[in-house]
Amino acid sequence: MRIGTPLTPGATRVMLLGAGELGKEVLIALQRLGVETIAVDRYPNAPGHQVAHRAHVVDMTDAAAIRAVVEAERPHFVVPEIEAIATDELARIEADGLATVIPTARATQLTMNREGIRRLVAETLGLPTSRYEFAESGGELRTSAARLGFPCIVKPVMSSSGKGQSVIAGPDDVDRAWEYAQSGGRVKRGRVIVEEMIRFDYEITLLTVRSLDDTGRNRTSYCEPVGHVQVRGDYVESWQPQAMSDVALARARDIARRVTDDLGGRGIFGVELFVKGDHVWFSEVSPRPHDTGMVTMATQAQSEFELHARAILGLPVNTALRTPGASAVVYGALDAKGITFEGVDGALRVPQTDLRLFGKPESFARRRMGVALAWGDDVGEARIRAKLCAAKVRPVAAGSPASEAPVPTA
Ligand SMILES: Nc1ncnc2c1ncn2[C@@H]1O[C@H](COP(=O)(O)OP(=O)(O)OP(=O)(O)O)[C@@H](O)[C@H]1O
Ligand SMILES: [Mg+2]
Repeated sequence: MRIGTPLTPGATRVMLLGAGELGKEVLIALQRLGVETIAVDRYPNAPGHQVAHRAHVVDMTDAAAIRAVVEAERPHFVVPEIEAIATDELARIEADGLATVIPTARATQLTMNREGIRRLVAETLGLPTSRYEFAESGGELRTSAARLGFPCIVKPVMSSSGKGQSVIAGPDDVDRAWEYAQSGGRVKRGRVIVEEMIRFDYEITLLTVRSLDDTGRNRTSYCEPVGHVQVRGDYVESWQPQAMSDVALARARDIARRVTDDLGGRGIFGVELFVKGDHVWFSEVSPRPHDTGMVTMATQAQSEFELHARAILGLPVNTALRTPGASAVVYGALDAKGITFEGVDGALRVPQTDLRLFGKPESFARRRMGVALAWGDDVGEARIRAKLCAAKVRPVAAGSPASEAPVPTA
């Protein structure tokens, strides 16, 4: 394994497709290893654009546009950070030997559509999931929901971050849920999945890494489970480690292993699982770093982003936990461009905390603009600190009186 010098003909080049807060951290990890980095996103000055050697603004659902940027940059590795990509073009790029797609083009194709990954995991691999059906109209949804029983959950097959997702408590909710799914999906007139509601005790992300061992063979390693709280399909708080029974942990690892073995390639995966007692259900998987895994920036010797960077490059990884810790999301709280964050000093006065502000050019009330990180003797203590740290950060509109003198004077 060799790494060249950036900005010379021998450079090792990695292109991130999607340059949000997760991509930004992957780019920083790659920069530290002397990699030449290229960040692609659909809007200018995305977080990852600000830390890469080169930045491109590209509509990543446009196959020709992806092809063009890959041909112009000739990266060794193409690393998708988001789901909404023309993944068929990634398959052609891989088949043509133009670049290595992380983890594999097939993994990105299967996971961008809930139907692909669900059928693979439940029907081909025979692993436990919630019961489910697919529907293409309000009428079909009504029949499926009645068969699965109430309450159940409806999601567009092409969507993420809880978009278009709702709970059907009874027959009266069906039409509304159908309309809501149509408004939140990535494609119009989309198919939906309707799932049995699992009454789990807790849910986890099992960060699973496929890397190379000393002999050049694939090796699978697991981070300690990350527990999290989701509100309307979006994560607000996470912690590590989530306590689990030995049986549940072994089952979770077994599921993660079988799913990621099938998806193949190298890199980190966020395997989302529901747990009740010793029972474990597969929910979904991201073939890339996971938002709830931002906590690993405080808790692990190598964060999920460093693990991803190392695994991509064929370098050894270490998933060891250093300390219990937690993360809490900082939301934009207002709709405005170029906002200012007040109270950062106070936030960082909370002991054993750290903060990431992502540098997004535009804020929305529910947009994730930063994350507070904390550690402690146990997860309970760390969660309190992370939430306190996040709460002290106050987004304000630029130019408002409160935001004057953002830079301390002597
Ligand atoms: N079948 C289910 N039973 C119980 N809870 C569920 C079920 N499906 C989803 N949820 C809840 O909704 C959350 C979001 O669901 P899911 O992960 O499928 O959606 P998503 O849009 O992909 O979200 P994200 O992109 O944030 O991971 C889950 O983390 C879980 O809390
Ligand atoms: Mg999810």
